[in-house]
Amino acid sequence: MLRTLARELKLTNFSNGLVKKRSSRFYATVGGRRLEGKIAIITGSASGLGKATAHEFVQHGAQVIIADNDTQLGPKVAKELGHSAQYVECDVTVEAQVEEAVNFAITNYGKLDIMYNNAGITGPVIPPSITELDLDEFEKVMRINVTGVIAGIKHAARVMIPKGYGSIICTSSISGLFGGLGPHPYTISKSTIPGVVKSVASELCGAGIRVNCISPTAIPTPMSLYQIGKFIPGVTYEQIGEIVSGLSALKGAKCEDIDVARAALYLASDDAKFISGQNLIVDGGFTSIKNFAFPSPDQIG
Ligand SMILES: NC(=O)c1ccc[n+]([C@@H]2O[C@H](COP(=O)([O-])OP(=O)(O)OC[C@H]3O[C@@H](n4cnc5c(N)ncnc54)[C@H](O)[C@@H]3O)[C@@H](O)[C@H]2O)c1
Repeated sequence: MLRTLARELKLTNFSNGLVKKRSSRFYATVGGRRLEGKIAIITGSASGLGKATAHEFVQHGAQVIIADNDTQLGPKVAKELGHSAQYVECDVTVEAQVEEAVNFAITNYGKLDIMYNNAGITGPVIPPSITELDLDEFEKVMRINVTGVIAGIKHAARVMIPKGYGSIICTSSISGLFGGLGPHPYTISKSTIPGVVKSVASELCGAGIRVNCISPTAIPTPMSLYQIGKFIPGVTYEQIGEIVSGLSALKGAKCEDIDVARAALYLASDDAKFISGQNLIVDGGFTSIKNFAFPSPDQIG
């Protein structure tokens, strides 16, 4: 059977005329199972990108805890995944529930290797102007998209620090890189996440824990289909899905939930064993392109 191997090898190192024996780890990913034996919590995994990631992690040998406040879809997703997944009701805005989800991992599996803080909402799309911003709505978005992420990091770190390892991943968005791609609360909340990652990675690298985030472009999921549907009334979700896929900047490819799941798999696995504090942008080059809108010759003069 093919699996990821971590072999301890003794290396001989010559320094100052002395021969020292040093232990060094060589990782060889053999075959497909890159998370064999790992325990992962994924918040917001009853749907969309989190659900796709839960499937990918399980395929790679992980045990996944589906931590979501959707008490109908959450257990259904866990059931689909069989003995490799369990559902835990978790509203990320309630710190005690995040704490409980982490404690569930420790009680049932004795450790937590991967914490993926993915749950998020877009908040109200309308009104778009800052002059009409409802601050209560703003705070609601920040509580899920930022405070909920920080609660996940806090409680994961609590159990990872004594073990001296772990991978923490958070979901940001390309909406956090540019203004105007999303409503203000969403844009502001998502732009905060890479800063959270830097701040926490600066502390946790000293404990052997990696912290990164992923910034996806628009991908057809229940969230995006519902939100975009509000702008384009009268079209089916299938049509909206095609429109969203058609926004891809990369010729011949469209962004799908599996692209985010594979980015998360990379960051979660030993393949990314020296990667921390980073924002992995999954956008097919979209945020690399910005053209000057020069007027055509007939528009000048
Ligand atoms: N779909 C996109 O185009 C896109 C692009 C960039 C970033 N994102 C981000 O990806 C993440 C997942 O989005 P998605 O598109 O899969 O959306 P989705 O609506 O399909 O899934 C979101 C999940 O989060 C859960 N959730 C919501 N509030 C919660 C809370 N308080 N506590 C626990 N769970 C909660 C929902 O029940 C749902 O299962 C979000 O953070 C989103 O901002 C999405």
